[in-house]
Amino acid sequence: MKKMTRALSLLLAVSLLVGSFAFGALALPASDFDAYWETIRDDNTMISLTPGADETQMNFRWHSSLKAPYPLIHVSRRPDMSQSQTYLGKIEHSENADQRVNKVTVNYLEPDTVYYYSYTLEEGFSTSAPFKTPPLGRVKVMFVSDIQCSGADGDEEGRIYNARLWNRTMDTALANNPDIDFILAAGDNTHKGATEEWIASLSPPALRSLPMATVVGNHDMKSTVYNRYVNNPNTFHGTTPNHVGNGYWFTAGDVVFVMLNSNKINMVDHYLLIKEALITNPNAKWRVAVMHHDIYGTRGHADIHRHTDAYLLQCGLGTLFDEYGFDIVLTGHDHVYGRSYYMKNNKNVDNPGYEDGKVTDPKGTIYFTASAAAGKSRTMEAMADYPWLAYSVFGTETGIDIYSTLEFTNYECKIYSYTADDNVQVDSFEISKTSHDYPTPAPVWLYVIRMFARIDFKILFGAMAA
Ligand SMILES: [Fe+2]
Ligand SMILES: [Fe+2]
Repeated sequence: MKKMTRALSLLLAVSLLVGSFAFGALALPASDFDAYWETIRDDNTMISLTPGADETQMNFRWHSSLKAPYPLIHVSRRPDMSQSQTYLGKIEHSENADQRVNKVTVNYLEPDTVYYYSYTLEEGFSTSAPFKTPPLGRVKVMFVSDIQCSGADGDEEGRIYNARLWNRTMDTALANNPDIDFILAAGDNTHKGATEEWIASLSPPALRSLPMATVVGNHDMKSTVYNRYVNNPNTFHGTTPNHVGNGYWFTAGDVVFVMLNSNKINMVDHYLLIKEALITNPNAKWRVAVMHHDIYGTRGHADIHRHTDAYLLQCGLGTLFDEYGFDIVLTGHDHVYGRSYYMKNNKNVDNPGYEDGKVTDPKGTIYFTASAAAGKSRTMEAMADYPWLAYSVFGTETGIDIYSTLEFTNYECKIYSYTADDNVQVDSFEISKTSHDYPTPAPVWLYVIRMFARIDFKILFGAMAA
């Protein structure tokens, strides 16, 4: 823990030297990563942040021993922590018998403001570290998926390899986009859900200050650990249990982000979660869903003729995104970057300007699939021949790790994608809206009928036989 405290002090010193705080100041150059890794490689007590329910909240979680003091966080506008407010948290079971998980929600924050926090250690409080709330009306997020750090079963080489490349992606993104407000990660945050893998996936030092909103990938389902390493807002409990979690939602700027656990096949639960998020935020200008499975995706996992789950999710969730008029769906799973045509009723929708990467008041929903963020992107010989796929970025000898930024204002969303190693822009797409009318969704019984009506049993039985 002392090592961790020193790392936080170093980060703070760097951010102050640079002047006004921006997340770019927290990037750790690749040349310094291995030395840093030695200080944290076995330390799962690193604190991490999740976006709060809106701009006025921030969520924190960290592991500690069972004997540590009850979780408190001091928050101040000053790095010396003077005039701080104190927030009391709650404790939960850890995946390890000799530890517990501490979760604190900090609220009544001003949007677009730099704060400093300090939290309870085994003895005393940590040194302060900065964080920043998103502004009102504009939000810029970093989108990645399949960080998927290995390292269960003692695979130390795999662990540091992925951790190093994940830090590299963060370094590139933050150095070139210091105004990122938070990260969206579309699942497979770890390879097997092991504690050692969470240490690696949360290891970039910027994650002590930059919130990351994750969803559950199929690899995260290999253990029950996911909820021990996140503190998600507005968690949805669902009508059927799930050993990892059921999704959640939050808002930032004019956007409502609905974070789905697409491993769940209970579509009524997805319907209810989305309904709750959207009814609570009727004036949101953008509706964005984040989930793991790339239902209009880029590679083999999206092959509806081979994978039953791909086809059923395409029918179930595709219908749901149509019903609620989602603007954008962000996915991962296939480890190859791509962008779909606009989709509605499982058909491509022509929108003027699409081929030039600029649309106004588009009809339908656009789906993005991320590559892997930390060295596990896959190779392809050619772009997959899927009718929904408009564009894809792939390597024939090595996979290409890519990160994206999405910048939202009231009437515009700019989505740019870059290679993670040298920041070459590989995709650009801009959406303008002059109105924000959304369809009135069908009641749940009608949604279920429409979902089943979409299923082509020839495709379904073919996928089951494949
Ligand atoms: Fe994956
Ligand atoms: Fe996956």
